Amino acid sequence: MLVAILLSCQNDQTQQSHFDAELFQTMNQIDSDIDFSSFILPEDGDYSQFELEPQNPMTSRKVELGKLLFFETGLGSDAVNEIGKFTYSCASCHVPSNGFMPGRVQGIADGAIGFGTNGESRSKSHLYEEDELDTQGARPLSLLNVGYMRNTSWAGMFGAGGVNEGTEDQWEHTGTEVNELGLAGLESQNIEGLHLHRMNLNKEVADAYGYTGLFDAAFPEFPVEERYSITTTSFAISAYLRSLVPNRAPFQKWLRGDMLAMSNSEKAGANLFFGKAGCINCHKGPGLNNQNFFAIGVKDLYETGEAFATGPDDTRNLGRGGFTGRSEDMFKFKVPQIYNMKNSPFYFHGSSKRSLRDVVEYFNDAEIENENVDKNNISAFFRPLSLTEQEIVDLTQFLETGLYDPDLERYMPTQILSGNCFPNNDILSRFQTGCE
Ligand code: HEC
Ligand code: HEC
Repeated sequence: MLVAILLSCQNDQTQQSHFDAELFQTMNQIDSDIDFSSFILPEDGDYSQFELEPQNPMTSRKVELGKLLFFETGLGSDAVNEIGKFTYSCASCHVPSNGFMPGRVQGIADGAIGFGTNGESRSKSHLYEEDELDTQGARPLSLLNVGYMRNTSWAGMFGAGGVNEGTEDQWEHTGTEVNELGLAGLESQNIEGLHLHRMNLNKEVADAYGYTGLFDAAFPEFPVEERYSITTTSFAISAYLRSLVPNRAPFQKWLRGDMLAMSNSEKAGANLFFGKAGCINCHKGPGLNNQNFFAIGVKDLYETGEAFATGPDDTRNLGRGGFTGRSEDMFKFKVPQIYNMKNSPFYFHGSSKRSLRDVVEYFNDAEIENENVDKNNISAFFRPLSLTEQEIVDLTQFLETGLYDPDLERYMPTQILSGNCFPNNDILSRFQTGCE
């Protein structure tokens, strides 16, 4: 009888332990207008919480089309060398199984070959010069939870309005004229991104691969002569990107009432994240990202010694300041989302850390590692935390597994309409991914 009662208690997913009680209490004390429920990510298909673009309402047709185009190597017609044509896609640098980040310090699309098992073996083709590569001076951001971002990129430089109100003078000389279209960050950045990453879509391309009908269904309000274009491609991909929500992570299940979804160590780590360790001061939003910029003094990508076409003079090293030109913005970077971080062990904009424990220790020690950074701009929230060894272990555990959605494959198509291989279509990648 007693055993039966004990067992039924253990199996009751709503039964709270003191770990749960403490975590609830901490989360409900963050702020007067934040409680634990504000961190519940939406269910699949519910976009009501997001920063939507009025000119691009969310529809499932756009999401489904974007899901194909994001992986479509057939768009890669503008490679600088013949050999690179149709060998890369958005997912060359934003690999779903790496939390939509690359498997190496830096993303490379056109000009690289290979994939390995998880993007880790992608490397420069010897047929390309360094300055011909499609690669950038910062590690690609994850694309999870990007629906919460009004302005995109590490410097927040894409998108009219939002934090970019008052930055209009900067657009012409920072390569962000696309903001003049007045669109949100995603729509703007993805128009620019398609050009930058050497991709194209027009009526011929849509017809050739069989996308025309999907564009017709997704964009009936666009006149036919504007319906198959970089703009509509960006709109479909933007809709798809907003749908990328890691809502199956254990922490999400816990928030929805399954008290057994997280281990005690993960719960203790979450309690630190929202309490003593102060991570919540910056990773504030529902997606644990934030449309705000902070300097925490990490190294830049060129300092890894493994990155191409970047160096000490790269304006990306200046973060938000490289875009606005304001001294108070120098070295400040957007607060990134932090779900599904464990698969691609390259952390911060300069890939300077190689494990989540190292990231936690960096915040715990609060000693800046980049001497070029103006110390006056370092955030006051970046301060020693005095975490014990056990607390470091627990916080790391929460990041590694508590915030890990194991089913991101649901956001990948099984095939793309061109029939090409993806995310890469060069011979070596095809061999390594078993795609013919
Ligand atoms: C060569 C690698 C590469 C390819 C290919 C690539 N990206 Fe990116 N992506 C990056 C990098 C690097 C960043 C961060 C750049 C920065 O902030 O300066 C980024 C950032 C982004 C962001 C901003 C996310 C945020 O939270 O602000 C979006 C959106 C995005 N990429 C979408 C795309 C789309 C759509 C494609 C395909 C058209 C694409 N990317 C192809 C490297 C790549
Ligand atoms: C002062 C604000 C601030 C605080 C406090 C803070 N973060 Fe961050 N976090 C950031 C910013 C900004 C970045 C990106 C910095 C960069 O790359 O230049 C970042 C990056 C990260 C990353 C790497 C994400 C990526 O895409 O590489 C992780 C993981 C992370 N933070 C976890 C934490 C944890 C855990 C804590 C608490 C111990 C914490 N952060 C506290 C602002 C903060």
